[in-house]
Amino acid sequence: MLDIKGKWALITGASRGIGRQVATAMAEKGCNLILHSRKKANTDAIKGELSKFGVKLLQVEAELSDIKRVSQLAEEVESLSGGLGILYNNAAIMTQYRTDIYSAPENEYIQSFTVNTIAPITLCNAIIPKMITRGFGRVVNVTSGIKDEPQLMPYAASKAALDKYVYDMAPHLKNTGVLMNLMDPGWLRTDLGGPNAPNPVESVIPGALVPVLLDVGDETCGKFYHAQDYRV
Ligand SMILES: NC(=O)c1ccc[n+]([C@@H]2O[C@H](COP(=O)([O-])OP(=O)(O)OC[C@H]3O[C@@H](n4cnc5c(N)ncnc54)[C@H](OP(=O)(O)O)[C@@H]3O)[C@@H](O)[C@H]2O)c1
Repeated sequence: MLDIKGKWALITGASRGIGRQVATAMAEKGCNLILHSRKKANTDAIKGELSKFGVKLLQVEAELSDIKRVSQLAEEVESLSGGLGILYNNAAIMTQYRTDIYSAPENEYIQSFTVNTIAPITLCNAIIPKMITRGFGRVVNVTSGIKDEPQLMPYAASKAALDKYVYDMAPHLKNTGVLMNLMDPGWLRTDLGGPNAPNPVESVIPGALVPVLLDVGDETCGKFYHAQDYRV
C-alpha cells in the first residue's frame, strides 16, 4: 500500500459530506492537504478537526462553475504545494428531480456539466502533465453509480461524461507513474445524497482511499471503484 505521508493532496469539496470523510482519512495517514470549498470559511471546522494529525493544512476557495477560476486554482495549488501528488476531484452538484423526464432545461445541463465534468477535467488537464514530469500522481474522479434515473439526467449525464474522460485518457498514462481512476461512493446520507440514502457517509471509508493508495506495481488505471465493496 502506498505511503502518502508527507505528500500533498487537493480535495475539492472538502467542507462536508464525502470530501470531509476523505480529508480526515488522508490526514490520518499523514498526507498534507489543500482543502477546497466555495469559501475558505466553509473548511475552517474541518481544518480545526484535522490539526491533531500534525499534517500541513491549507485552504483554497473557488466556485467550480467559473472555469477561468478553476484554471487559476490549478496554478494556485501547484504553487502552494510545490507540486501536487494527489488530486481528489470530489465536489459536484446535484440537479432537480424531475418527474417529467423531458423537462430539464438547457441551463441545468450546462451548470451540471460545468461543475461536475468540465471543472474536474480542467484540473486534470492542468495538473496531470506536471505529475507526469515528476513521475508520480494519483488522481481520483468521484463519479456515481446512478442508472435508469432519467429524472436526474443532467447530473447522470455529467458523471457519464467524466467516466468517459477517465476511461479514454487512462491508456495514455501507462508507465508514467500517474494513475487516474473513478470512485463511486454509493448512495450516502449527505446534503447531496439526501436523508433517504441507505448508507451513512462514514461508509465511504476505506473504499474511497483505495484508488489513492495504489502502489507501484498496482498499475490500476481507468478503473471504476465502488467504495461500498470495501465496507467493513
Ligand atoms: N452522496 C451520495 O449519495 C453520492 C452518490 C454518488 C456520487 N456522489 C458524489 O460524491 C461527491 C461528493 O458528494 P457529497 O454527497 O459529499 O456532496 P455534498 O455533501 O453536497 O458536498 C458537496 C461539496 O462540494 C462543494 N461544492 C458544491 N458545489 C460547488 C461549486 N459550485 N463549486 C465549488 N464547490 C462546490 C461543497 O462546498 P461548499 O462548502 O462551498 O458548499 C461541498 O464541500 C460528488 O461528486 C457526488 O456527485 C455522491
